[in-house]
Amino acid sequence: MTDQAALASKLETGVSQLRCIACGAVGEEGAKSVRCAQCGDLLEVLYPGWKTNGVTRAAGLDAAGLKELWLQRRTSWNALDESGVWRFREILPALHDWNYVITLCEGNTPVYQLPSCGRAAGVEQLFAKHQGMNPTGSFKDTGMTVAASFARQAGFRWVACASTGNTSASMAAYAARAGMRSLVLIPQGQITWGKLSQALDYGAVTCQLKTDFDGCMRVLDEVVQRMPVYLLNSVNPYRLEGQKTTAIELLERFDWQAPDHIIVPGGNLGNSSAIGKALLEMKELGFITRLPKLSVIQAEGANALVRTMRETGGRELISVHAETMATAIKIGSPASWKKAVRVIETTGGVVEQVSEVEMALAKAEIGADGIGCEPASAVTLAGLKKLVKQGFVRKNETVVLILTGNLLKDPDFTLKFHRGDLFAGTEHEEEASEVLAPRQRAPMVLDASATAVVKVLEYAEQTDPRK
Ligand code: F0G
Repeated sequence: MTDQAALASKLETGVSQLRCIACGAVGEEGAKSVRCAQCGDLLEVLYPGWKTNGVTRAAGLDAAGLKELWLQRRTSWNALDESGVWRFREILPALHDWNYVITLCEGNTPVYQLPSCGRAAGVEQLFAKHQGMNPTGSFKDTGMTVAASFARQAGFRWVACASTGNTSASMAAYAARAGMRSLVLIPQGQITWGKLSQALDYGAVTCQLKTDFDGCMRVLDEVVQRMPVYLLNSVNPYRLEGQKTTAIELLERFDWQAPDHIIVPGGNLGNSSAIGKALLEMKELGFITRLPKLSVIQAEGANALVRTMRETGGRELISVHAETMATAIKIGSPASWKKAVRVIETTGGVVEQVSEVEMALAKAEIGADGIGCEPASAVTLAGLKKLVKQGFVRKNETVVLILTGNLLKDPDFTLKFHRGDLFAGTEHEEEASEVLAPRQRAPMVLDASATAVVKVLEYAEQTDPRK
């Protein structure tokens, strides 16, 4: 190795520590437990090496140097550079050897403008960063590549998670790539077939437990105490480090001019915590001068954070019994609530909740912009509409929705929506038939005749609402 290469590899290595978010105890880097040994609360990754002589820099480089380096890597064929996560490795915890990295070319996801959704919400500049365009179809891949690589480095044979479906799909894929075994605990009958089929195809040992997500989490906590398996839920601090890159890519895409608002769906609250951590670090490192406001939207039936903020000012978690068709965020007791409260408050964001009908309408609107997403992601647009009405988001502000999962994750929801039976037999049936009908496009069964098809075409043209 030349002197320069040795220096470069040293500079790339971000020395990190794990610190408890509650008692502040500092643990060893790469620790096998994902909770504080002193008080049992969650851990977060810190980079003490960033601060030297009063200057904050990652890997010894200033913001301008890192911006240039990260952009240059987009033209490289090096596997680490091709990943939209490891491309930013200076602000991630370093592995002892980069060969431990398990990557599926995650990240580098598109940012789309959403003109008609913007009109529906009442904002002029609306964008979506589509994390559903990751290799397994959800944002989970950006965190999984980091945490699974740490599991591999630590020599684990087994990794495990409790999941509403996307984490399990992602974990199973990354484990399979590295020849590790994976154990998935999911609530029986409460995850979509798309997600379940992914875990099976990637070879996970999949257990459908007769409980909800929160129950699966409790069982898994006990399993990891008793067996040498590594927990890959978002309580794992390395997951959140990888998920930070969503925000970093987004800021890079806006040429480091931060948007006014970033809106994220909230379930277990790992993603909002990670995006918030990235924003704070980017400000600390001098990449941006102003923080975007980070707001979190939940489904009304799974609104633990909303209640926690409104009823306790964010001081105590109020758990709920979760009920929503957005199975991805059907979570009653979010693990990362403290981290989320901290970043929402620091960035000046808010929390809001939306109804099932509002979410279903928003999902169809995102679809009609040619983008599409899974139901949980659509709470962002539904929530934005409320925030505009409340005057929290102004019409000339730039807003970015984080779409977390791909449309194809939950085709059942979409088909039921368009056939008009998503809310059949529920208390929302009447409201839904009024509000959603203009967006429904049920498939038609016709005779195999051109005349029949032409008639349909003529009718569609005459009744086109866009004319
Ligand atoms: N959107 C989708 C599509 C998700 O799958 C999840 C979480 C969220 C949003 C919420 O993110 O938990 O970080 O607040 N899914 C997890 C899972 C819980 O097991 O796949 P969060």
